[in-house]
Amino acid sequence: MFKINEKITWVGKIDWELKKFHGEEYSTHRGSSYNSYLIQDEKVALIDTVWMPFSKEYVSHLESVIDLNKIDYIIANHAEVDHSGALPELMKLIPNTPIYCTKNGVKSLKGHYHQDWNFVEVKTGDTLDLGSGKLVFIEAPMLHWPDSMFSYYTADSILFSNDAFGQHYASEFMYNDLVDQGELYQEALKYYANILTPFSPLVIKKIHEILGLNVPVSMICTSHGVIWRDNPTQIVEQYLKWADNYQEHQVTILYDTMWNATRTMAEGIAAGIKAVDPTLNIKLFNVSKADKNDVIAEVFKAKLIVAGSSTINKGILSAMASTLEIIKGLKFKNKKAAGFGSYGWSGESPKIMTEELKKCGFEILEEGLSILWKPDEDAIKSCESFGKSLAEKL
Ligand code: FEO
Repeated sequence: MFKINEKITWVGKIDWELKKFHGEEYSTHRGSSYNSYLIQDEKVALIDTVWMPFSKEYVSHLESVIDLNKIDYIIANHAEVDHSGALPELMKLIPNTPIYCTKNGVKSLKGHYHQDWNFVEVKTGDTLDLGSGKLVFIEAPMLHWPDSMFSYYTADSILFSNDAFGQHYASEFMYNDLVDQGELYQEALKYYANILTPFSPLVIKKIHEILGLNVPVSMICTSHGVIWRDNPTQIVEQYLKWADNYQEHQVTILYDTMWNATRTMAEGIAAGIKAVDPTLNIKLFNVSKADKNDVIAEVFKAKLIVAGSSTINKGILSAMASTLEIIKGLKFKNKKAAGFGSYGWSGESPKIMTEELKKCGFEILEEGLSILWKPDEDAIKSCESFGKSLAEKL
């Protein structure tokens, strides 16, 4: 618990132990937090809760801050269980307290908990008077669920943005200006790349809609990670960049390999690219060994993705197949690509890689490079030439 100002208290949970989120789908090397906020104005509003395993602890801490019966309103900005998970525990104690959420929020909350709580549906522009200020609700569908919404507190010009602008980043500091800036940037980018990329057009639209309101923003209180209080709109500007077909001067080479032949190819291709443009940041990942969400962050940053696999059973290796499946779903834009792979007899993988990279929405620069058995000197030169050709076409 800590006070953000006279009226607002953070009543969330820092989860230092969390290493996987969304089941096994998202790696959280630095843990996370579930941020919940209590506004004690003339009326009292509770914004979001925490993930279900912490619900008893959450309610008990909340009771140490306020008599629960004094909570006039609960605001559910998002129904996903990491934010609504303590509602069942809380609603046992204050069953009639109204829960403000979007129409889709009601559906999701009912779908999760099968409870007929006192829901109040809100739409963009609806307000809730707390006394010295109002909460203004802004629907944010698909940022990142259909029910998502933001709440803006007029008294202190604070935007409660839920998942948007968040990071899976545990820190007792809890404010953006107090933490390691490199770690914060990395976690915010990884979060955007892995969760928000498919919704980039909506991100741009929603941000312009909010900027168009021309209201001050003194702080952005997200529901994961640190609160943006120092130059809070820096993350909004960064989101506009990330949402706009983002790329850095980077090539990301992904491979999966059985006996290192495809790895040798990857290194040869990298050498060829480097020979043409030493300023390119070239990064190589064996996708069967690297963390998949870290790999996705590096795909997000790349202008060229070169991806290869050995051929197995007339197909590609499973770690590469699952990585490509994630990439397809994220709908990256403005990226070029090429495939490659080694083989012993049938040799389908480069063709499959090219087809899969097309399905990822990438522009294919070259047909896939194929090498029989372990690359010899000549084959390595072919890989280097392939890399050079790709770099020249960038
Ligand atoms: Fe942090 Fe969409 O839940």
